Amino acid sequence: MSPLNPLGPPPPGRLHVACIMDGNGRWAESRGLPRTAGHTAGEENLAEVVRAAVQRDIGWLTVFGFSTENWIRPRPEVRHILGLHERLFGRVTELNENNVRIRWIGRPFDGPDARTPKYVQRAIRKAIADTAHNTGMVLTVAFDYGGRAELMGAVRSARAAGQRITPASIESHLHDPTLPPVDVMVRTSGEIRVSNFLLWQSAGAAIHFTDTPWPDFDAAELDAAIALVPAP
Ligand code: FPP
Repeated sequence: MSPLNPLGPPPPGRLHVACIMDGNGRWAESRGLPRTAGHTAGEENLAEVVRAAVQRDIGWLTVFGFSTENWIRPRPEVRHILGLHERLFGRVTELNENNVRIRWIGRPFDGPDARTPKYVQRAIRKAIADTAHNTGMVLTVAFDYGGRAELMGAVRSARAAGQRITPASIESHLHDPTLPPVDVMVRTSGEIRVSNFLLWQSAGAAIHFTDTPWPDFDAAELDAAIALVPAP
């Protein structure tokens, strides 16, 4: 468990929605804009989607902000996306207005493969601390995250703690063991892949694939995704 994520009361919402926010680059290119403009629009749209999610029966929204594989993108694009994470984690006033707790999952900052710059680490720590008192939806941002890396780390930690390898012992060593199973996974922009996101947590998830690029993903699309979840 990341020591950064404090325990708190369960949120009032029932569902866990996970989003692979794909298609920012293509959204921009189709408008004759640089790819970075697509990421900026993607970050702004995420803020909109958070506002829509808190008005629905969603307790946990988990988004794939940056993967362990994304570091190989061109340096200026990586810098731009890192800056957008600083901006997202800086939206504390807005998150507090919506009673949202922000959390993070990803490779530990002090791990052997860690690459998260200090200014992003600081933004993450500060946002988590400054929204920890909220009691509503939990927004988890996966940054420098990979599902395989998470599972390898969990197995290693369970072994190091002298535990037998069981579903329960693996689960207790995931980045955030308090994250419940994913009810519905969303992937935008026409790609029909899961791409190493929440491999353990989404074992039983419904999947909403849509051609809509992430910057255009809206409340109606969110409702279509939620509609895939069977009634309790
Ligand atoms: C895919 O678009 C998206 C990402 C690389 C990560 C998600 C990033 C954002 C939504 C922007 C900022 C968000 C946060 C959380 C601060 P792509 O570049 O793969 O698009 P393409 O497939 O059209 O090239």
